[in-house]
Amino acid sequence: MTNHTSSVTINDEIFKQLRDFVYEKTGIYVPDNKKYFLENRLSRILREKNLRNFEDYLYFLKYSANKNDIARLFDAVTTNETFFFREPQQFEVFAQNLIPQIIKENSQMGRKDIKIWSAACSTGEEPYTIAMILHDLPELNPLRKEIYASDISESVLMSAKRAIYGAYSVRNIPPKFMAKYFKDSSGMYVLSDSIKSMVKFLNINLIDEREVKQLKGIDVVFCRNVLIYFDDKAKKKSVSLIYDVLRPKGYLFVGTSESLHNITKAFRPIVINKVIVYQKV
Ligand SMILES: C[S@@+](CC[C@H](N)C(=O)[O-])C[C@H]1O[C@@H](n2cnc3c(N)ncnc32)[C@H](O)[C@@H]1O
Repeated sequence: MTNHTSSVTINDEIFKQLRDFVYEKTGIYVPDNKKYFLENRLSRILREKNLRNFEDYLYFLKYSANKNDIARLFDAVTTNETFFFREPQQFEVFAQNLIPQIIKENSQMGRKDIKIWSAACSTGEEPYTIAMILHDLPELNPLRKEIYASDISESVLMSAKRAIYGAYSVRNIPPKFMAKYFKDSSGMYVLSDSIKSMVKFLNINLIDEREVKQLKGIDVVFCRNVLIYFDDKAKKKSVSLIYDVLRPKGYLFVGTSESLHNITKAFRPIVINKVIVYQKV
C-alpha cells in the first residue's frame, strides 16, 4: 500500500515489532506516536530491496539479513545532525578547567597520555573540534594525545574520515582555527591532515558491552545528543558502560539539553561556569 508521500504505511502490530527490533539493536526507542518516523526512514530500503511491505522487511531482518543489511538499518534510523564547536561553553570548560586538572592528575599517576572519546561522533565535527583544541595547547606537548571517535552508523564514519565539510558545519569555527586548519575548495572546507591524523575512528554501539570495552582509561567522554534517542533502560546501560571505560575521577559531558538525573548515581554533577560536567565517583 502506498500513500500520497510515496512512503509505504505500516500497521500497528508490525510497527511494534519493528520498533522493538530497532530498540534491541541500537537503544533507539521510537514511541507509539512516531510511526511515521519508521515509515519515512525505512520506505527507501523497502524499495531498494523490492520488498512489498514492512512485514516482509521485518521477516527479512529477523531471518536473513546480513551485517550490511543491519548496517543499512542503523544508517537509516539514526539522526546525525552535528557541527563544529556545538555547545561551545562545554569546550571552554574542557580546555580551561578540565585539561589543567587532567595534566596534573595524570602526571601524579605517572601517565604520559591524555585520552578523549567522542562517543557518538556522527560525521566527525565533534572529535575534530576536540583535536583542534588539543593541538593548540602547548602545555599538552609532553603528553601523547589519543582521541577516539565512534558511531554506530558506518556511513557517517566514512564521511568523518573524508573530513570535507560544507558551510553549515563550519559556521561556528573561530576564525583562527579556520585559517589554520581548513582549505577552501570550491565552497567546501577541507580539514588539514595534522588534525585528521589525531583522531582514530571506530564503529562502537553504545549499548554493546563488548564493543565499548575496546576502550579503557579514558579521561573525558563526550556523549552528546545521542542519549535523547534512547529510553531510560538503554540510557542506564550505555552510561554504565561509559563509566567502566573512564579512568577514576574521569569526566563525562552529555548534551546541554540532556541530564543524567534519575539515570545514574555513579557520577557527581559538578557545575563550572554554568556548565554541568559529570565526574566519575
Ligand atoms: C545527533 S548526532 C550527535 C553528534 C555529536 N555528538 C553532537 O553532539 O553534535 C547522534 C549520533 O548518535 C549515533 N548513535 C545513535 N545510536 C547509537 C548507538 N547505539 N551507539 C553509537 N552511536 C549511536 C547516531 O548515528 C548519530 O550519529
